[in-house]
Amino acid sequence: MGEAKLRVETTAFPGVFRSGNMVLTRNLAPGKRVYGERLFSQDGEEYREWVPDRSKLCAYIRKGGSAFPFRPDSHVLYLGASSGTTPSHVSDIVPQGRVYAVEISPRMFRDLVGVCEDRPNMMPILGDATKPDDLSFLVERADVVYQDVAQKNQAGMFAKAMKRFSAPCGMLAVKARSEDVSRDPRHVFQESAAYLRKEGFKVLEITDLEPFEKDHAMIVVES
Ligand SMILES: C[S@@+](CC[C@H](N)C(=O)[O-])C[C@H]1O[C@@H](n2cnc3c(N)ncnc32)[C@H](O)[C@@H]1O
Repeated sequence: MGEAKLRVETTAFPGVFRSGNMVLTRNLAPGKRVYGERLFSQDGEEYREWVPDRSKLCAYIRKGGSAFPFRPDSHVLYLGASSGTTPSHVSDIVPQGRVYAVEISPRMFRDLVGVCEDRPNMMPILGDATKPDDLSFLVERADVVYQDVAQKNQAGMFAKAMKRFSAPCGMLAVKARSEDVSRDPRHVFQESAAYLRKEGFKVLEITDLEPFEKDHAMIVVES
């Protein structure tokens, strides 16, 4: 059970809670921390603090992002899972769904596997996000594609995965400096969005993640 008490309130986003400025999710693995986050209890439930400096999805919520495609039974294709910080919160948000957590680095993957062991709805996949065909035998369906991979052509990689799995919704965390260190990040965000529109997606929102993440934006799309 959590270590401290606080007043947890629901939000417009299913599975996301607030207490003042603090964002929380209900812990699907009670008693377990993933990255040193604080745990709190209320009415027999345990909640995990979601730290916006550690997670672009939480930064998006703190910045007032209003499009939130996750539902309790969503299947989420998560590209760039690293050691599982944000994927673990997504796992809390989709307790009847699934998180296919794809990571290319064997070192990060080892930590990711440990996080998935406590979470029945998380499947770790050691794989390459640029090759969605290679993932298809493990991914039953994707209601949401979430991508956080810092490399060139982020929008191209994202569009390919969205199309391969016919995903209705997606969230793309864009790191401007991975595209071009010399360009104004705002131009890079607009170019990524323009590319996605050209590929046939409807861009719902572009949210700059400053001050939590410098030179990053979250782009939310529908197919
Ligand atoms: C910024 S970190 C992700 C952080 C994570 N999304 C979170 O919020 O907890 C980006 C990750 O993408 C991984 N990555 C880079 N290229 C990749 C690729 N082609 N396929 C899958 N993962 C990749 C990196 O190894 C790194 O762990």
